[in-house]
Amino acid sequence: MFEAQSLPSSVSKRDLYASLAQQLAALLEGEPDAIANAANMSALIYQLVPELNWAGFYFMRGPELVLGPFQGKTACVRIAVGRGVCGTAVARKASLVVQDVHAFPGHIACDSASRSELVVPLMKDGWVLGVLDLDSPHPNRFDDEDREGCERLVQIYLDVSELNG
Ligand code: SME
Repeated sequence: MFEAQSLPSSVSKRDLYASLAQQLAALLEGEPDAIANAANMSALIYQLVPELNWAGFYFMRGPELVLGPFQGKTACVRIAVGRGVCGTAVARKASLVVQDVHAFPGHIACDSASRSELVVPLMKDGWVLGVLDLDSPHPNRFDDEDREGCERLVQIYLDVSELNG
């Protein structure tokens, strides 16, 4: 049985994401179910990445994003492409780091405690199939190292999971 290995709070982001990548690959190994993997990946991230109040997935369902597995407070279910941070990341087909969600036009507040946000699109063959969304109660919580670390985690998820557009 897989058991997540916590890291000391002094760990560098580089080492944190290296460990997370290793643990995620072990956690998902041999399991193609995209929902089960998203659920376990959300739990792993929420447990090991410090200072988060939400971590989870939205998947493209027709023309909009629909809530998938997550950890944190209840969230809005449907987000149109181009709306909020998640819908904007889909429209741009690019990761988005928002240092202060209050300053982001159209930000959708699911948990009023959220102050900064990182969204990474799930891309396969040029198509966006969904997003990974991390929220923090601290402004300026995410930087390029978090973005790159999470993009690597998303790639591990995509490599293992059977996810169709
Ligand atoms: N804040 C997001 C909505 C999703 S919740 O944070 C879980 C947005 O603006 O797209």
